[in-house]
Amino acid sequence: MIELSLNFFLKLFYTLIASNLLLRFIKWIFNYINKINSVNQLKGMYMLPFLGNIHQLKTKHEFLMQIRDFSYKFKDEPMWRMWLGTMPNYIFHKGEYAEILFSSSKNTQKSVQYDFLHPWLGTGLLTSHGDKWSTRRRLITPTFHFEILNDFLSVMNEQALIMTEILSSLVKNKQEINIFERLKACALDVICESAMGQNVNAQNDQLSDYVRAVARMSELVTYRFFDPLEWSDFIYSRTQRGKDYKRCLKILHEFSTKVIMERDNDLDDVDLMSKKRVAFLDLLLKAKREDSSITFNDIREEVDTFMFEGHDTTAAAASWACQLIGSHPEVQKKLHQEVDLILGESNRPLTNDDLKELKYLDLVIKETLRLFPSVPYFGRVISEDCDVGGYKVLKGETAVIVAYMIHRDEKYYPDPEKFDPDRFLPENSKDRHPYAYIPFSAGRRNCIGQRFAQMEEKVLLASILRYFEIKSVKSIDELEPVGDLILHPNNGIPIELKLRC
Ligand code: HEM
Repeated sequence: MIELSLNFFLKLFYTLIASNLLLRFIKWIFNYINKINSVNQLKGMYMLPFLGNIHQLKTKHEFLMQIRDFSYKFKDEPMWRMWLGTMPNYIFHKGEYAEILFSSSKNTQKSVQYDFLHPWLGTGLLTSHGDKWSTRRRLITPTFHFEILNDFLSVMNEQALIMTEILSSLVKNKQEINIFERLKACALDVICESAMGQNVNAQNDQLSDYVRAVARMSELVTYRFFDPLEWSDFIYSRTQRGKDYKRCLKILHEFSTKVIMERDNDLDDVDLMSKKRVAFLDLLLKAKREDSSITFNDIREEVDTFMFEGHDTTAAAASWACQLIGSHPEVQKKLHQEVDLILGESNRPLTNDDLKELKYLDLVIKETLRLFPSVPYFGRVISEDCDVGGYKVLKGETAVIVAYMIHRDEKYYPDPEKFDPDRFLPENSKDRHPYAYIPFSAGRRNCIGQRFAQMEEKVLLASILRYFEIKSVKSIDELEPVGDLILHPNNGIPIELKLRC
């Protein structure tokens, strides 16, 4: 009798579970079909059920070209769509339609792809959202105050000098120069010194464990972004790359933790503002002393975020600028004239006033970031159903904002592939849509390091231009721009430099 009722209850239990699962599955299928019907109103690649467009996506250089080709193909559409498995992605390729993502306090949550950065950056400024993000943003904004940035100008000048000395010795030895590698090492030294007050000497010692781990980590995160087979933590941790990721993570976290602890021991509140040079880290440690809810882990998240966001981006932008300057002699001539007029024959460090005077260089940097925005696309979660250009955009799905294509909209940039710094003269840009140019993103989640980056780019480029003439060796197509986390050349940027007499 007991056995009979046990059997009965077990059967009932299994039936309930099975019918519950079946019901959920039916509901999911129903939602999925509805989603397909809604999203496929938009133009896009032919999709397969469940796979979406995953099987059609290209990698590396070809992926960016694929996005470019589809954006040109659908250029009269406000957006187009791409399915990653069963997840639709709305591709925003026009500034005026991306406005909905920038202009309000909604849609500020980053898309699911950013989760791959969590083990490294935690939920720091770049990856967090909601209250945590707004508290952090409020805390960190003062560290980018104008006066504090002035302090970092000397770091930039010092590192730029080291870079030009290395470049001079390479020129003397007639060695080929990969300017991307040189600028990356220089930008890493600048950000390490500014964010942590630590000199990692990347320019002279590119093989240090920390320097290698930063480079390898950015590479590994990118691989993971684009390979669905690496998305599951369980599987990833068992692969060779997953193990390498764990190894790098250990090096990076041990380094930043050690620096934070040492700096905290050294820090004396009374002394802070009289210190010769204050790092971002000092300001965060000071905030921690005033607000006990801030933990060392919170600080490490932010320091790691600065390290990640703060060097490859600037280095890539300055490298593309060198490539474009070196292939446009008329632009280079004007730049040399401007630099000579402002700096003369002196070797003195650049001042803030010099930076303000370098107006043509400013136009060149802006136009370079139009053609080669360091962050070529970024993602958001749609926070509520909305209408974009007559199409319904569904809550909870992903929006991908393609700055690379927004910057090639013929409506605002005729002959968009042409490098023409004059596009940014005030008279030529006054009627441009505010979201037609977004290299630093826009709205509440814009780049907090924008002014720092602009200062650094000017110092690095003016330092090269005052001593050297640049000649590009390859064309843009030969360089194969790759849109990973950062828009970088596939195999560096080889250039020839000639010392100016
Ligand atoms: C040319 C150089 C740079 C470019 C083009 C650039 C561009 C961007 C873009 C497009 C975003 C938004 C990313 C997204 O929504 O996923 C961003 C965010 C951010 N950037 Fe930059 N960046 C540059 C340099 C820097 C530097 C030097 C720092 C630090 C010193 C920095 C720190 C950050 C941080 C912390 C965020 C997250 C801000 C937030 O969500 O509140 N960036 N940057």
